[in-house]
Amino acid sequence: MDSSSKTVVLITGANTGLGLETAKSLFARPESYHVLIGCRGDLERAKTAIFELRESSPASTSLADALSIDITSDESIASAFQQVQEKYGHIDVLVNNAGADLESAVAAGQMTPRECWNEMYNVNVTGTHLFTSAFAPLLLASKASTPRMLFITSGLSSLTELANGESPRYTNPPAGWPKPIVPFFPYRVSKSGMNMVATEWARLLRKDGVCVFLISPGLLNTGLGSNRKTGQGPNLGALGAIDPAIGAGFCADVIEGKRDGQAWPTNVLRKDAVQQW
Ligand SMILES: NC(=O)c1ccc[n+]([C@@H]2O[C@H](COP(=O)([O-])OP(=O)(O)OC[C@H]3O[C@@H](n4cnc5c(N)ncnc54)[C@H](OP(=O)(O)O)[C@@H]3O)[C@@H](O)[C@H]2O)c1
Repeated sequence: MDSSSKTVVLITGANTGLGLETAKSLFARPESYHVLIGCRGDLERAKTAIFELRESSPASTSLADALSIDITSDESIASAFQQVQEKYGHIDVLVNNAGADLESAVAAGQMTPRECWNEMYNVNVTGTHLFTSAFAPLLLASKASTPRMLFITSGLSSLTELANGESPRYTNPPAGWPKPIVPFFPYRVSKSGMNMVATEWARLLRKDGVCVFLISPGLLNTGLGSNRKTGQGPNLGALGAIDPAIGAGFCADVIEGKRDGQAWPTNVLRKDAVQQW
């Protein structure tokens, strides 16, 4: 099969974590993909990821290319768009996977709380939206019967679950001040904002035949929240995080169209995982 007949899947933040595992899951399947491994900064990390991909499924007919993309940089988005447009002319699936939880940077004195909130909003909301906006025309240029757009959200961002007051993970503190620190507060707020971004994209693309999904992949043992400089951060394993390959398999099912019946307006949620995370 030549490269032009493969399903082109662009995954942001695919040098590690859920993004890389999703690419691995695609490589392990019989369908043939051309996966664009989004990576910010040093592209050597994407090249190492591609090496891992090939090692994990040596018989795969899928291909992968590294793509430099920092979703908080307009220049990086424009440059990535130009490269993908020139080389492929379209994409079939866009996976908005890049995301950040930067609270450990406040604990380490590297950011003020305001900088942390603003930067998380920049990555998880503004950057995700502006990246999507730039690449939407390439998705509309897809010849696939159903182009797909995925947003990776979190069960922690559910307004319904928080507001109904029944979740054991949200207990009310006693009256008085100070209140205890709320874990993952800015992360949850920014992911709630991203949920609106995704829902708006679903509305905008509804008549274009694009299936849009909001996916909560479960609590996964990745580098999320870990400080890239000090290595410190939440111990997700101790919180019960599962192998990211499990969430990745679910994302790959969505990419393959196995969940199209649950595209917007119904969100795709792994209910068992959402209850934990
Ligand atoms: N882990 C979980 O339990 C969990 C649960 C629900 C949802 N999610 C979501 O799943 C997605 C993947 O997270 P993960 O768990 O795999 O965490 P991860 O291991 O920290 O991976 C996050 C990826 O996003 C990239 N990224 C961060 N900021 C970026 C930017 N400005 N531009 C481009 N890429 C950027 C990171 O790049 P660097 O390597 O350069 O930092 C990394 O490749 C996120 O959206 C996260 O919110 C995770």
